[in-house]
Amino acid sequence: MNKKQTVIVLDFGGQYNQLIVRRVRDAGVYSELLPYSTPIGKIKEIDPVGIIFTGGPNSVFEKDSLCVSSEMLELGIPILGICYGAQLIAHLAGGEVRTATTREYGKQDITYKPAPLFEGISSDSVCWMSHTDYVSRAPQGYEILASTKTCPIAAFGNIQKKIYGVQFHPEVVHTSGGQQILKNFLFRIIGAAGDWTMSNFVADMTEKIRQKVGDKKVLCAMSGGVDSAVAATLVYKAVGPQLTCMLVDHGLMRKNECEQVLSVFRDGLGMNLYKIDAADRFIHRLAGVTDPEKKRKIIGEEFIRVFEDEGKKLGKVNFLVQGTIYPDVIESGFGKSATIKSHHNVGGLPSVIDFDEIIEPLRDLFKDEVRRVGFELGLSKEIVMRQPFPGPGLAIRIIGDVTREKLDILREADAIFREEIAHNNLDTEIWQYFAVLTGMRSVGVMGDMRTYDYTIALRAVTSIDAMTADWARIPYPVLEKISTRIVNEVRSVNRIVYDITSKPPATIEWE
Ligand code: XMP
Repeated sequence: MNKKQTVIVLDFGGQYNQLIVRRVRDAGVYSELLPYSTPIGKIKEIDPVGIIFTGGPNSVFEKDSLCVSSEMLELGIPILGICYGAQLIAHLAGGEVRTATTREYGKQDITYKPAPLFEGISSDSVCWMSHTDYVSRAPQGYEILASTKTCPIAAFGNIQKKIYGVQFHPEVVHTSGGQQILKNFLFRIIGAAGDWTMSNFVADMTEKIRQKVGDKKVLCAMSGGVDSAVAATLVYKAVGPQLTCMLVDHGLMRKNECEQVLSVFRDGLGMNLYKIDAADRFIHRLAGVTDPEKKRKIIGEEFIRVFEDEGKKLGKVNFLVQGTIYPDVIESGFGKSATIKSHHNVGGLPSVIDFDEIIEPLRDLFKDEVRRVGFELGLSKEIVMRQPFPGPGLAIRIIGDVTREKLDILREADAIFREEIAHNNLDTEIWQYFAVLTGMRSVGVMGDMRTYDYTIALRAVTSIDAMTADWARIPYPVLEKISTRIVNEVRSVNRIVYDITSKPPATIEWE
């Protein structure tokens, strides 16, 4: 197995940092985001083929500005500094950075000089700027390689040392030829192999898992979600029957969800997968609870109890598979924000199962890469393109207390909504869509009779990462059909509303 070529993206707090990693990977080179404070020893250990310094909100001459040792420029590793990263290179290499009186923001005309970084790009082009500080003098040994009307040193570089700085953002789509600039850095300047593909990933990872596991036993808790399904399939491909999977049915799944998971993975692929029927205990503990955070807490606790009981039966396990993916890793390692909702998955498992080691085969991958791995492993579109489903399941889509009756009503309404969205081929453009059982009842009339029944809300959003979302513009005829079908086919429902709030200010889930 060849050593994986890595480009390290050093994070100085800019808003496009993950995007830079994505762009590098899209070009076929593996890339990782690391904090700017990563010790230089660790960087040498990783032995990257290139380093990118990101943008960030600081000024290089502020007292506590985020900085790296100037030794970084002497490692003999090609470096590309973007925005703040470019200013940092200028600062470290003895150039000069100043603060402008006004901020330069948005699309700008730019003129490039001939240089390896700009090969294949028209000398007069457009770039995306967002800065106040600027490089006013390039360091000795560095040439000025681009300029805009207001920014005379929009790019500079030391061709011999393969160190470049660009004041603009090549990673955003508004910079024309931006991806080409990144590719020039990767292939013309670094000379990267560009062999980071999902089929290589699958081949390498199955081999790694095989070697690690040997003839020992592996356990995986599947949730029905994409990540755990792909992780389990990868491990299954590597070690076959040495893997045991369990699926906790907490009674809060969507219609036919457990059955589908069993039919695909147990009956179809032949995995050793068994279901734990825990619906009674979850529903019993949720009885009468209306507070959303309390519901989430109870469900999280109950999961751990179920695993605890199961762990006692299973005894010692050698390896435990977790479906951790790269955004989870970045989130837990970097800065933090306020708790809006206490999200949870099957994270409680490691604390109660007696095991030696965790296997996280997807911890380097973004969600769409996980999906590509899923396809590579032969999983169907229904499994791989599945929309996100929260760990606490339908319990947080029922406003007020959770009962079996309400769960049944919601499951039926939700299934109709999903069926119609798929039927109208809207499932790829809408990011997430589901029904909510609002606690509200209202008066209706059906066949001359007064009714007093539930209101179902439909929620459908477009989004890229669930951090922000917009409500999906579902065509009226489709909404009409969904509404008619739900009130006709689902008992105890006489009114349908469509949620037209974006996130923020609303969240995607109602609880
Ligand atoms: P919100 O409602 O916070 O949801 O806008 C953002 C995304 O996260 C999902 N979600 C969860 N996922 N465990 C999960 O695995 C949870 O507890 C949880 N709560 C919300 C939600 O479905 C949406 O995709």
